[in-house]
Amino acid sequence: MGKLNDNSLLLEFLCSPINPSDINQIQGVYPIKPEVPGALAGNEGLARVIQVGKSLSNSWKVGDRVIPLKPCFGTWRTYAIAEANQLMKVPKNIPSIQAATMSVNLCSAYRMLKDFNPPNNCVIQNAANSGVGRYVIQLCKALGMPSVNIIRNRPGVNDLIYELKDLGATYVLLQEDLAKAETRKWFKDSFPSGFGLALNAVGGPSSLELARNLSEGGSLVTYGAMSREPTAVPASLFIFKDIRLRGFWMGRWKEKCIDLEVYYQMINELADLTSQSKIVGPPVKFIDFDLGKLADEDSTKLFHEAISEAQKPFTNNKIMLRFNKDIV
Ligand SMILES: NC(=O)c1ccc[n+]([C@@H]2O[C@H](COP(=O)([O-])OP(=O)(O)OC[C@H]3O[C@@H](n4cnc5c(N)ncnc54)[C@H](OP(=O)(O)O)[C@@H]3O)[C@@H](O)[C@H]2O)c1
Repeated sequence: MGKLNDNSLLLEFLCSPINPSDINQIQGVYPIKPEVPGALAGNEGLARVIQVGKSLSNSWKVGDRVIPLKPCFGTWRTYAIAEANQLMKVPKNIPSIQAATMSVNLCSAYRMLKDFNPPNNCVIQNAANSGVGRYVIQLCKALGMPSVNIIRNRPGVNDLIYELKDLGATYVLLQEDLAKAETRKWFKDSFPSGFGLALNAVGGPSSLELARNLSEGGSLVTYGAMSREPTAVPASLFIFKDIRLRGFWMGRWKEKCIDLEVYYQMINELADLTSQSKIVGPPVKFIDFDLGKLADEDSTKLFHEAISEAQKPFTNNKIMLRFNKDIV
């Protein structure tokens, strides 16, 4: 873990989600590959300061809540020592789940809506029930953008549709209905100019349907590939609609963000929306870790269970590792 010196902070992690990209990183298929042995998994999470190095006592105090600024911090652990410039403080009134999913899930949703600025303010997305998707729905509502949200059919789908509409989804459609003639007609009648922005976390046939519904010059922004299928688009959409295929990666945005003020401003804006209850965190299933009390083999088993649970389809819950039961 390193040593606490005058310029560092001792942190206790409270909770950290298991996101698909964390698993990709462990599989070695993510662009950032932590050094092994000794690599620590987990890219986002919420921690609190439990000890402050002497030189930092003017600006930091015990109890400050923090999130990592950059990817690869290693958030699946109970304690960490960090330099102040690796962290960002989050206000105390932000609920823990929102704070723990802020630096990747919430910031990604925010950046994609801001940076790809849809000309006609209509957004369509797949994987709308994902952590990012739910934040997209709520931010669209807060920013006054209608959103069409695609999910996969499942038992109890009406409850999920109701839940997403309650978050602010203008429409929720089933992936399985997209290629039907009546759905195509519905799109033409309801959104005659198409969508300025389509957010794609799935790929395969799902992304093709998103591309088909773009407006002239609209952008399909791919930020995930949950189906593991390629995003293929017919030439006619390029020729006759001049659509744009773009990509987004929060990790790249963070690496390239030299002006930390822009970063702070985003976090403050999101913190404001959260404190006004305009944004709520995704539903989570907690997996409780008290590493101090668990034998090594028990904690390994628990990690394996958590990772396998996080990869199950149709669960509607994000797996959240909880290191301190009293906090959340
Ligand atoms: N580029 C970036 O900076 C960035 C940032 C954050 C996230 N992401 C990516 O965004 C995606 C969502 O991340 P998240 O953390 O929000 O995920 P999450 O909360 O774990 O949700 C996973 C989502 O993927 C869907 N899904 C799983 N397998 C699927 C399949 N075979 N076909 C279609 N949908 C499938 C799930 O739908 P069901 O409920 O139907 O199973 C669910 O909507 C991931 O690909 C992640 O890597 C990228």
